[in-house]
Amino acid sequence: MAQPRVLTGIKPTGQLHIGNYIGAIRPALALAEKSDDMFIFIADYHSLNAMRDPEQIRANSYDILAAYIALGLDPSKATLYRQSDVPEIFELSTMLMNVAPKGLMNRAHAYKASVDKNRALGKEGAELDEGVNMGLYTYPILMAADILIAQANIVPVGKDQVQHIEMARDMAGTFNHLFGETFTIPDFEIQGEVGLIVGLDGQKMSKSYNNTIPLFETSKKRRKLIMKIVTDSKLPEEPKNPDESTICDIYKFFGTPEEIAELRADFEKGGLGYGDAKQRLFEAVDRELAEPTERYNELIADKKQLDEILAAGAERMKPIAMETINKMREAVGFKTR
Ligand code: ADP
Ligand code: TRP
Repeated sequence: MAQPRVLTGIKPTGQLHIGNYIGAIRPALALAEKSDDMFIFIADYHSLNAMRDPEQIRANSYDILAAYIALGLDPSKATLYRQSDVPEIFELSTMLMNVAPKGLMNRAHAYKASVDKNRALGKEGAELDEGVNMGLYTYPILMAADILIAQANIVPVGKDQVQHIEMARDMAGTFNHLFGETFTIPDFEIQGEVGLIVGLDGQKMSKSYNNTIPLFETSKKRRKLIMKIVTDSKLPEEPKNPDESTICDIYKFFGTPEEIAELRADFEKGGLGYGDAKQRLFEAVDRELAEPTERYNELIADKKQLDEILAAGAERMKPIAMETINKMREAVGFKTR
């Protein structure tokens, strides 16, 4: 049997941190290692429903691309492209509008979150939709088009995205029912089961909280940041609870099993100061990220090479996208292209 086709998209929304790496990038790279039919794309059209700065969108897109390659994604093996380079996605999205019930969109999390925010501000009636553009409202339709255009079998996503995959299944199923078998029904595979990485202050690491350890930094800066992790005031000789420590929490994603066990034991025993524990954490993080950081810096300085990679990815996508579009056009009674 042919290998399942795996597809995932990443929104280019800002500086990457080690939480993104552990929760999203590392699992995607592991899948790419295993699959000979992997598609990863930069969801730049999706970012437009909230971002308005062209320079920022351009820079973030390059950033994501350089990051994945620096961390080991092989662009000659996985198909790596930018959503806005594949216009067939938008034709498909328009088609799906006709099989997506409006009520389904009313239930989408991102839209509901905006409505809830307006409600909390005391708004009512039509005001509840304030700040909601049609890009946000129809986000699940564009996302379904991203997936169906490639006839993907499996879509690895975080838990928050599962609802969108269910909607894509719904739209594909309705279309197939009305017009005959046209789209592969995709399955999701939940990623990020590794759990959340906490930030320097002990809350979830997030760019919105200003508590991140960026993915690509000089080793010196990386060490300086790790030394800023907030701890209690226990003295070195006092025993400490590894389950209540941000240091141990982050270390479990970067240390070897032996190193992790050793740090935990040293915490419980007492005799290890927080400064020394942070130094161990720095060494483990730096061991994994110092080389990719160098590669990232080289790549990000060479936009021509990044453009070539994106052009090659778009070229690979084209016949796949055209095949789906023609199948769809044929099914509904349009002339093929
Ligand atoms: P942020 O919270 O910094 O805005 P995003 O929402 O852009 O990050 O997340 C992009 C991806 O990275 C998602 O798949 C998300 O699950 C993952 N991710 C973000 N923060 C963390 C974290 N602290 N721990 C694990 N995964 C994370
Ligand atoms: N919505 C996803 C997110 O916010 C990104 C995305 C867009 C995506 N299109 C996709 C993911 C298609 C998987 C498949 O993370």
